[in-house]
Amino acid sequence: MRPSKAIVDLDALRHNLALAARHAPDSRNIAVIKANAYGHGMIEAARALENDADALSVATMDEAVVLREAGIEGPLLVLQGHHGPDDIGEAAARDLWLMLHERGQADTLLRHSGPPVRTWLKIDTGMHRLGIPPGEAGAVIDSLLASAAVAGLPVLCTHLACADETENPATARQVEIFHSTVKGRSLPTSIANSAGIMHWPATHADWNRPGIMLYGSDPTNACPGHPELKAVMTLQSEVMAVRDIAAGEGVGYGARWVAEKPARIATVSIGYGDGYPRHAPNGTPVLVNGKRAPLAGTVSMDMITVDITGREDVRVGDPVELWGPNLPVNEIAACAGTIGYELLAGMTARLPRVFRPGA
Ligand SMILES: Cc1ncc(COP(=O)(O)O)c(C=O)c1O
Repeated sequence: MRPSKAIVDLDALRHNLALAARHAPDSRNIAVIKANAYGHGMIEAARALENDADALSVATMDEAVVLREAGIEGPLLVLQGHHGPDDIGEAAARDLWLMLHERGQADTLLRHSGPPVRTWLKIDTGMHRLGIPPGEAGAVIDSLLASAAVAGLPVLCTHLACADETENPATARQVEIFHSTVKGRSLPTSIANSAGIMHWPATHADWNRPGIMLYGSDPTNACPGHPELKAVMTLQSEVMAVRDIAAGEGVGYGARWVAEKPARIATVSIGYGDGYPRHAPNGTPVLVNGKRAPLAGTVSMDMITVDITGREDVRVGDPVELWGPNLPVNEIAACAGTIGYELLAGMTARLPRVFRPGA
């Protein structure tokens, strides 16, 4: 069998959640496991976190239904809320919490006549992607509080646009707008994502919403990142071929790497068909036998090539780490002009996930 796989360390996942709790001891944590738990495996992540997290959240109703079908029974928030009246019935039947982000969406819920649904209400404090404008929030909150379609108290929340930039004043502005919008309401609140939890104490509220930090990737994209975060995923493979090439010979599609002197190339069975970024340039680090070696040549769908010139130790079958505890995913992301989130969430279905400790 192909030796390429993503090893997913569920103890590290729980460790990172505990770190979120230590940063904000007065807040409850709703663990964000959307997009297949940022590529790690949504059902397994849910099972690993359901006892430690106060609630779980996903982006879509479809994701929430998958979790319910898998037997995940605890509090579960759908960050995009419902997409129509049918979703509301489904949410009520499956005991899902809906985040409302738009007036028309809230109105659809208010017309719902079945069993009531728990809600969160997103307020747009400056990200301008989703959320009720602050000037309209009061009326929507009043209508939710008065409605028989709404169970319990709505949680008032907002999402931060720039919290990963620890000097950016936009976060303080968002917090100020949020507080002035919810002032005088004795309702639960939620502001912080991972960067908020780790870097902006003023964003800590009744509920925090850690996502990327759970997976051990520093939310500021720093390398190596916060020393207490533990990488959850190790993307690993093995050397599948070793060859010597002459000076002047090119390697891979388009011959984008050319040997300046006689060179030795290791081929590794991982590619963009697995989620390894095609835009990773020559020189992107790869750990071969625990030592860094530079990527050499274009990333193919199923393989990469690595310059191991001068490395007498490397043999077919030797271990390769593409990212993980010894090579931060954020470093590879920086090489490829993207962020760790995209690389993790982009891991494809072809790549086997191996969970440790196993079930
Ligand atoms: C509404 C909301 N809250 C929380 C998160 C978690 O963010 P992060 O992964 O940066 O912690 C996300 C992620 O996109 C989100 O959309």
